[in-house]
Amino acid sequence: MDLAGKAAIVTGASSGIGAACARALARRGCRVSLLARREDRLRAVADEIAAGDGEGAALPIRCDLRDEAAIAAALETSHAHWGRTDVLVNNAGLGRSAPLHGGDSAEWRAMWEVNVHALCVATREALALFSPDDGGHIINISSLSGHRVPPGGGFYAATKHAVKAVTEMLRLELRARESRSRVTAISPGFVETEFFEVLHDGDRARAAEVLGRFEKVLSADDVAATMLHVLEAPDHVSISDVLMRPTEQQS
Ligand SMILES: NC(=O)c1ccc[n+]([C@@H]2O[C@H](COP(=O)([O-])OP(=O)(O)OC[C@H]3O[C@@H](n4cnc5c(N)ncnc54)[C@H](OP(=O)(O)O)[C@@H]3O)[C@@H](O)[C@H]2O)c1
Repeated sequence: MDLAGKAAIVTGASSGIGAACARALARRGCRVSLLARREDRLRAVADEIAAGDGEGAALPIRCDLRDEAAIAAALETSHAHWGRTDVLVNNAGLGRSAPLHGGDSAEWRAMWEVNVHALCVATREALALFSPDDGGHIINISSLSGHRVPPGGGFYAATKHAVKAVTEMLRLELRARESRSRVTAISPGFVETEFFEVLHDGDRARAAEVLGRFEKVLSADDVAATMLHVLEAPDHVSISDVLMRPTEQQS
């Protein structure tokens, strides 16, 4: 896809991988809608894009992805504003420590609702907005935890395994409909973002300790570069899943 002049929607664009994907799309001349709850952070990303030297532009849209009606409204707002929808990056997500032994079911629900349910709702709404002639591209930011279950991260891994399943489910549906649209999961290992602060209740020292075990983890820009590679592949190339990790990461 030639991204110049296209319109993309990025969920979780207020920080980390989502913000990096939004900036990367804008540098290619794409118009980008930025969805998340923290409006000040969305505005900061939008200002950065406006100040950049690319042709791209950004529209911040406050949206709590746990509210299904709000997702549909946000995608409609984006479509009306840019006049088209070509790309959806389902990036928003979170990990929480929540075992099955005595685990807090509110934590299971929080992960499930954002990582899986909201991703499916946003996907359904975006598919209805893609041009029937040109199609579009859905990018699901999954995780290596969609491919293995790390000790202590079981429920998060369950949600990312579900993302793997729905990514393949959508590919099969698109084939059955002879659609030109494509779907891709990107499954990173450790990336330096606020993810580990959220995981550890805002404890920055603990988050830094996790990432500090490595000399150099992935950056959000590394993941965004992979997203661009996937989106810009020729029409006949459908990349289904990309597993990427810091070279020194074991599993
Ligand atoms: N960092 C890693 O090592 C890593 C590895 C593999 C996969 N991933 C995946 O990468 C994706 C992005 O995470 P990240 O690493 O960039 O972490 P992050 O910096 O914590 O970003 C998470 C984003 O999700 C948004 N979000 C969370 N709950 C939301 C809700 N209810 N409604 C709307 N937005 C919500 C947050 O925005 P607000 O708080 O402003 O709403 C934020 O923008 C996630 O799917 C994560 O599972 C991360």
